Amino acid sequence: MLRLSAITPSGHAHLGNYLGAIRRWASEGGRDDLYFVSDLHAMTTAHNPAKLRSLAREQLAVLIAAGVPEETVFVQSDLARELGALTWVLECTASYGEAARMTQFKEKGVGRGGVRLSLLTYPVLMAADILLQGAAEVPVGEDQRQHVELARALARRFNGTYGEVFRVPEATLPPAAARVRDLTDPSRKMSKSTRDTAGTLFVLDEPEALRRKIRKAVTDSGEEVTYDPDGRPGVSNLLDILAGCTGSAPRDLAADYSSNGQLKEAVAEAVVATLAPVRERTNRLLNDPGELERIRKAGADRAAARGEHRLRSALRLIGA
Ligand code: ADP
Ligand code: NA
Repeated sequence: MLRLSAITPSGHAHLGNYLGAIRRWASEGGRDDLYFVSDLHAMTTAHNPAKLRSLAREQLAVLIAAGVPEETVFVQSDLARELGALTWVLECTASYGEAARMTQFKEKGVGRGGVRLSLLTYPVLMAADILLQGAAEVPVGEDQRQHVELARALARRFNGTYGEVFRVPEATLPPAAARVRDLTDPSRKMSKSTRDTAGTLFVLDEPEALRRKIRKAVTDSGEEVTYDPDGRPGVSNLLDILAGCTGSAPRDLAADYSSNGQLKEAVAEAVVATLAPVRERTNRLLNDPGELERIRKAGADRAAARGEHRLRSALRLIGA
């Protein structure tokens, strides 16, 4: 059952991405899984072209360095021609109302004539991502579920109207992983798109930068170490991070520490031990452009070949 997942290079990968997604992709990534760097999706709002190109390359290197099998990875824009063509076919299958009903667009785009048209249509590109590869399962969070529903509707409609081409995908829930929160503001999740990066632990941060950010993490009032995500979100976030890095349960870990300072030391060492090998392998890849290019091209060729017959049939059936 082909499972398709993506990460958008809208910023540098962080510990939340690593513990919540990338590490799992590396351990479960089998022949039936497919992971891509969704750089085209990072163009729906203001962006810097050179920066995006570099972030996409870096994100690919991080995935490979983290151990995601290289034959399961590709960069979305390497399939820009195929995806562009299929997006058009699917836009001619979808209605305007379907796109305009998407919650994400209603929240960010409605009534703002200046937003990029792609902010309205990117769910159709996402449907093309899914249907081109013939994905059976798409593990997504609640916020993306509606987009997978659109892909299902478009696959069914196309198949029913023009002929059977597309596998109808299924949205699945990814295995639960603790949400890593921002170290300086635990009320929000650690995210690539947070501007103030003082509370973000990046996969490519040097060990000293990781230690410094963790030392400055907010820790609620009181010195005792207890796990209480609602009442003591700062300390609990540190325990969640330690748990994520060590495999122990946060509540059990709380008993091992009697001060915030002690806990922070342990978190810093665990985070450095977790990320340092990934950072070193990523930098090695980034400094070996020939090797990274070889991996990238092989992934793109495989992904393009996987979708070729579906795109050709769809174009022919719709009248091209
Ligand atoms: P971001 O908010 O950093 O841009 P994405 O929305 O691109 O993250 O998510 C990419 C993957 O990383 C998803 O599988 C998502 O569940 C996971 N992820 C993102 N942020 C966190 C976090 N703070 N804690 C745990 N997992 C996260
Ligand atoms: Na995001």
